[in-house]
Amino acid sequence: MKILVINGPNLNMLSKRNREIYGQKTLAEINSLVEEQGEALNVETVTFQSNSEGALIDFIQEQANSADGIIINPGALTHYGLSLCDALADTKLPIIEVHLSNIYSREEWRAKSVIAPIARGQVSGLGWRGYIAALRTLVAELKRESWL
Ligand code: DQA
Repeated sequence: MKILVINGPNLNMLSKRNREIYGQKTLAEINSLVEEQGEALNVETVTFQSNSEGALIDFIQEQANSADGIIINPGALTHYGLSLCDALADTKLPIIEVHLSNIYSREEWRAKSVIAPIARGQVSGLGWRGYIAALRTLVAELKRESWL
């Protein structure tokens, strides 16, 4: 089983940007915790980050055929990234949207996600642990364990 774990614009700056909102861990540290959890669950995780919507779409198109599910923190593309949304929908794969911060308790424009309608679910405000929760839940679903 292979899960793509994708991060969008500015998430390469974690640990430097707004630490009180996004936490202290670097993206590399979060990715290695995700990979560790993947190994424990016996699934392959492929991590990818880009600041460019086109590069994110290219990665999704290249990888989708060999993947079983997608976990994505689209960064600010969450709020307006319609090409990214189309690319994700075209994969027909189960998708979980993750946000480190609670996008519903911040500026009003952050409360709208164009990705949410095509996602199986969303984790928002649980910090780096949201990626772990998403991975465990997605894998359980793919292994046909109960979703709830
Ligand atoms: C974010 C929330 C977005 O609104 C923001 O643009 C980000 C990070 C989060 O993880 O909380 O870049 O997706």
